[in-house]
Amino acid sequence: MARQQPRRSPERVAVWLLLALGLCLSVGVLGAPSQCPAYNEISPCICNVKKNGLDLLCEFTDLSHISRAMGVLKGRQVVLYYLKLRHNNLPKLQGFVFLSLDIRHLTIHNSSLAVVEETSLSSVGKGLTQLDFSQNSLQLVPTPALKLLHKLLILNMNHNRIGTLHGRAFEGLDALEILTLYENRISNIDQDAFKGLEKKLRRLNLGGNDLNSVPTAALSVLENLHKLELPENKITEINEGDFEGLGNLDSLVLAHNHLRVVPARAFATLTRLNSLELEGNGISRVDADAFVGIEENLQYLRLGDNNLHEIPSDALRSLHRLRQLDLSSNNITVVAEDAFVGFGDSITFLNLQKNDIKTLPALTFENLNSLEQLNLQYNKLDRLPEEVMEPVMDTLRNLDVTGNPLECTCELTWYTEWLRRLRGKDDEIMQKKNSMCVLTRERHEYNMKSLPLDRMNCVGKNLERLSSSSKSLGALATLTWAASMTCPLLF
Ligand SMILES: *[C@@H]1O[C@H](CO)[C@@H](O)[C@H](O)[C@H]1NC(C)=O
Ligand SMILES: *[C@@H]1O[C@H](CO)[C@@H](O)[C@H](O)[C@H]1NC(C)=O
Repeated sequence: MARQQPRRSPERVAVWLLLALGLCLSVGVLGAPSQCPAYNEISPCICNVKKNGLDLLCEFTDLSHISRAMGVLKGRQVVLYYLKLRHNNLPKLQGFVFLSLDIRHLTIHNSSLAVVEETSLSSVGKGLTQLDFSQNSLQLVPTPALKLLHKLLILNMNHNRIGTLHGRAFEGLDALEILTLYENRISNIDQDAFKGLEKKLRRLNLGGNDLNSVPTAALSVLENLHKLELPENKITEINEGDFEGLGNLDSLVLAHNHLRVVPARAFATLTRLNSLELEGNGISRVDADAFVGIEENLQYLRLGDNNLHEIPSDALRSLHRLRQLDLSSNNITVVAEDAFVGFGDSITFLNLQKNDIKTLPALTFENLNSLEQLNLQYNKLDRLPEEVMEPVMDTLRNLDVTGNPLECTCELTWYTEWLRRLRGKDDEIMQKKNSMCVLTRERHEYNMKSLPLDRMNCVGKNLERLSSSSKSLGALATLTWAASMTCPLLF
């Protein structure tokens, strides 16, 4: 099909010419869009054109092929926005391999890298912003090679074999914001290890290493640090002053260490702390003054998977901003009536699952005025009367009581009413799991969504309770009344 050429007036031609000229000029200024070399010039590497430059991937190959590809790209004035070398055999990164290449993100992953020669990264310092050396065989931080990377923002050395962070290991990385050293063998950190990172470093991950104490001296210079991750180490104790100097810390992860006690004032200098993760230790005691100093900002506290026998209320009382509290998988058997007094008001998420809780006193949840999610699954509760749940029924949107030996008695009728009201608010918030109760008389399990009210024998007990409780809801009363009307038929 022949398309008709539009007729062009002289003015139009002039406009087109100007536009074309403009395009030529801007290409001249910004540089021609990068083009990939022909496939066979760089194979087995694969090249793609991305918005900001080329994306080059070389996998399952060796230095000779990689060097050949680098040689082809040299002198082409291209930006290598991503250079990804993965699953190669590259034990040594030789001097000047990347000479005259403009690389922005460099990954050398799972490539047996053990030696990074001093001059191997020279010349990429002007543009490199991300360097990923993860899953290799590095035993030391290759400081001499790194020290010219003044633009580097992110350095990832996860999954290597580094045992010691020596003094000034990261000197020269003036812009570094994120440093991750997860799963190495670090047991020793020189007190000057992080020298040079004071002003910019925001995140530090030292998880999965062999530390047996907090490396206070080295850390204390990191005044801009926002997130410190120390999980999966062998830290046996923390002490007052361990985190001094970290006045900007927002999140601290100490999960899965060997802590037994959270002592007084352990975090006292962390006045900006918002999130504290202490799960998976063997913590059996939390000092009443453990959280002194962090009252104003702490919102997330995880103490799950420890060895607590009661809710550490005395320590928690001052945390009046707390929103999420996780106490799951402990050995809590008894919850005191005043367990949440003083700090419960702002809690929206409370996780008490997998404990040994047998009963909940009537007023336990009385001041949990913001509670939206309550996890009580896998405890030993055989009762969950309305007087316990009534204070949170208006705000609660999610309740999990699966895995408890609950009995189907008339005092559970609030549950039906609560579900009904929830459905009215929002169809999506329907309970996904099926909580069950047992009708002892029949030795039969029922889904709490549809309690067998007609067989629950509600009359006497329930009416008594209703008349003595002024808080009961009208709808609930109606429901119970309906049940009591049907029950006599069974006698
Ligand atoms: C690491 O690279 C080797 C090839 O050098 C490959 O066989 C292995 O599957 C890779 N491992 C992972 C975890 O990707
Ligand atoms: C805590 O509970 C776990 C599992 O529920 C149990 O194995 C452990 O013996 C308990 N520890 C104590 C000190 O009661």
